[in-house]
Formats: sequence, structure tokens, C-alpha cells
Amino acid sequence: MWGQERVFDDGTSTVIDDNYIRSSILEPMTQIVAGYQGVMPTYQGLLSDRELDALIAFLKTLNEDSQI
Ligand code: HEM
Repeated sequence: MWGQERVFDDGTSTVIDDNYIRSSILEPMTQIVAGYQGVMPTYQGLLSDRELDALIAFLKTLNEDSQI
């Protein structure tokens, strides 16, 4: 999804990068993707910086052709 645009329920938008993914995991209620409900729990305090980096690196490997 990197490079894609996301529009949020408040009308703002962003292009997906590492920072957006990171804040989506740590503060999921801050930017709610339009059409979805804000039901995602925060992972603040549950993932170390290192784990977060690893998770983001893993997510980056996923794409439409992924065999995972
Ligand atoms: C390790 C676990 C999780 C990760 C890494 C994660 C990651 C993300 C990311 C990166 C987005 C933004 C996606 C986009 O812009 O297309 C997102 C959105 C969302 N997530 Fe999660 N998520 C997790 C767990 C969950 C759980 C447990 C729930 C619900 C029970 C949930 C519900 C949602 C929903 C409804 C959205 C779209 C609305 C919004 O922007 O908040 N997520 N998540």
C-alpha cells in the first residue's frame, strides 16, 4: 500500500509512508480511513520501537503478488 493515497473521515488525506503506518499502529484513532469505523486498538506500549520497525519492514514485503 506504500505510495497509495488515503482519505480520512475528516476529509484530510495522506500518501502512505512509514510514518503513516507507524502512527496508524500507535494512534489508530487519530486518522480513521473514510468508510471504516474507528475500532482499531492502540498498540502503544505493547510494541517496542524495534518490534515496530520489524513489523513495518514485514508489511512492506507484502504486495498483490505476495506468496505469504
Ligand atoms: C498488529 C496488528 C495491526 C496492525 C499492524 C494494523 C495496522 C493498520 C494500518 C497500517 C491501518 C491503516 C490502513 C490503511 O490506511 O489502509 C489500519 C487500519 C485499520 N485497522 Fe488495524 N492494525 C492491526 C490491528 C487491528 C485490529 C485488532 C483491529 C480491529 C479489531 C483493526 C482495525 C482496523 C480498522 C477498522 C482500520 C481502518 C480504520 C482506521 O483507519 O482506523 N486493526 N490498521
